[in-house]
Parts: sequence; C-alpha cells; structure tokens
Amino acid sequence: MEFISNAMILSFSILLLLPKSRGTTSKIPDPFAIEQGNPTKIKNGYEEKWLLNIMVIDTRGAQDKKACTQCRCDHMNLPKDFYNVTRDIHNQKLTTNYKGGLFCCQDNLQCKQIEGFQGPRRMVSLRYKISWVDWNIYQIPIKVYILDSTDKVRSNGSKILHDCLAEYTIPATGGGGDSPHVQKENIPMEKGGYLIYGTAHMHSGVVNATLYGQDGRTLCTSTPKYGTGKEAGNEKAYLIGMSICYPQPGPIKIHDGEILTLESRYKNEFRTGAMGHFYIYLAEELPQ
Ligand SMILES: *[C@@H]1O[C@H](CO)[C@@H](O)[C@H](O)[C@H]1NC(C)=O
Ligand SMILES: *[C@@H]1O[C@H](CO)[C@@H](O)[C@H](O)[C@H]1NC(C)=O
Ligand SMILES: *[C@@H]1O[C@H](CO)[C@@H](O)[C@H](O)[C@H]1NC(C)=O
Repeated sequence: MEFISNAMILSFSILLLLPKSRGTTSKIPDPFAIEQGNPTKIKNGYEEKWLLNIMVIDTRGAQDKKACTQCRCDHMNLPKDFYNVTRDIHNQKLTTNYKGGLFCCQDNLQCKQIEGFQGPRRMVSLRYKISWVDWNIYQIPIKVYILDSTDKVRSNGSKILHDCLAEYTIPATGGGGDSPHVQKENIPMEKGGYLIYGTAHMHSGVVNATLYGQDGRTLCTSTPKYGTGKEAGNEKAYLIGMSICYPQPGPIKIHDGEILTLESRYKNEFRTGAMGHFYIYLAEELPQ
C-alpha cells in the first residue's frame, strides 16, 4: 500500500479537531477528556456534529511519486482554466506563483501517469477508535488548539486576528547546506493552561518542530519517524509518525496571554504543500 502515507491522510473536523495521522496516537490521559454534547456549551441554533475527512493521494503509476505526494501543480493533470477559476485560502484567484499544495490535489485530480499505466480500482478505508467516557465530576475538560507556523497574527485593537496559510512552499535554495529550513511565527494564546499533550502534523522531509514559551523555554519538540520497509505503515523513506509529548500534567503551564513561538523545520530543499501544525491539548485545571 505504497500510496498512502502519513503525509497524505489528514482528517479535519470543524468542531473538534483531533489528530489524524497514522502512527500517531491521540490518546488523552485520564481524567482529562474532550467534552462533547454539553447543551449549555452549544450555541443556540447550532448542533454538534462529527466530520471525518480523508485525503488520499494515489501515487501508483505516477511519473514522479515524490512530486505527486507534494501535490506539485506541474505534475498534475490540471484543467485548462485551473488558475483562472481556483481560489486560494484568502478567496483570491490562485496565481501561477502557486507551485503546489492542497489546491492542486483537489478531488479527482490526477498526477501525471507513466504512459500506459493501468491501475486496478482500489478501495481505501480508515480505521479509527474513539473511546467514550460518561462525564462525571472527576473528568477535566481539555481544549484542543491547532497552531500553525504560517500564522501571520495581526491585531485590531485588542482583538487578535489569526491568518493561517495552512501550508507553505520551501523554495529551491541551491545547496541550502545541512541546516534545515525554518518556518516560524509568534502566536499569542488568549487563554493558557497546563500542557497535557502535544504533537506536530508535518509531511515527509520534516526534521522536527518545536513549540517555545515566551521566555524561550521548550514546551514540546515533535520528531519524525521514517519508514524502513515495504509494508503499509512502514513505507521506506516516508514519514510514518511524529512523536508526542505527554508531560506530567502540571509543570508545563502556558499563561493567559502568553506568546508562543512555533518553529517547523524541514530539510532545506524545494518542497510544496509543507505543513507545520502543532496540536496541543490544554487543561485549565488539574486534578485535585
Ligand atoms: C484564463 O487566463 C488566461 C491567462 O491568464 C487568459 O488568457 C484566459 O482568457 C483566461 N480564461 C478565462 C476563462 O478567464
Ligand atoms: C478593525 O475593527 C473595526 C471595528 O470592528 C473594523 O471596522 C475594521 O474593519 C477592522 N480592521 C481590520 C483590519 O480588520
Ligand atoms: C531539531 O532540529 C534542529 C535542527 O536540526 C536541531 O538542532 C535540534 O537539536 C532538533 N531538536 C530535537 C529535540 O531533536
């Protein structure tokens, strides 16, 4: 199953975003839990729902598998008017400066194929497990935050405006040497809490990602695991998992209003669709 790798499976949910990546667990230590279905916390007129969105890139028969997994526009069979009709994350017309990423990997678009390649139809499924606990007085709710190393935070008066690109391109630098490409932003946290869980969502080529506190302390570094074999989940040279921080709840505390710094690091070579997301779970209180 070479055509699925960690880089290719993302699942987004509007109300509740949970990691997502194969080889990366998202188990929440007891007594912390994500609260769901509390009628006092659901806005009037809204309904809570789950959404599971699977992104799969089939690289069978692709002329260039690596470019295909990076959703490189020039390696896709794009419709003629692609650049005229596609809108970017800010709802602006995509310009030809856009070299690759999510917008070139839309549903039903196909990577350029080796001539004559015939791929049998394949079914793909996602296996997941959700554990429920009935809410009781011992459960402590956690909040899930997704930070993005492309977030150009702005403010309007006291209001903080996030402006995330979700993905970025690492330019060809021509022998960038051994030091990685670093994408970095400062992201204020309106509300803090105790760090319960942290991990990065990144793609193949990742070196690592680190979240720092305002005083420079390291809150969590997430490092990659690359595959070494052929079997599903261990494909050679593909990213197959990112490490997780499970600090002892308590000592790592983010303060209200603290400005965090997120650095995502990739090998310094041309890459499109790079992501540098950091998922953190924060508890605003600790068990008594
Ligand atoms: C699409 O863009 C090209 C070049 O930018 C232009 O020549 C063409 O007329 C456009 N087509 C449409 C349908 O807007
Ligand atoms: C800032 O807020 C004011 C008042 O809500 C609004 O009129 C203005 O458009 C905002 N500016 C930006 C840059 O968002
Ligand atoms: C993350 O990568 C940087 C750059 O290669 C390196 O200096 C640092 O030691 C790495 N951190 C960890 C915890 O692996």
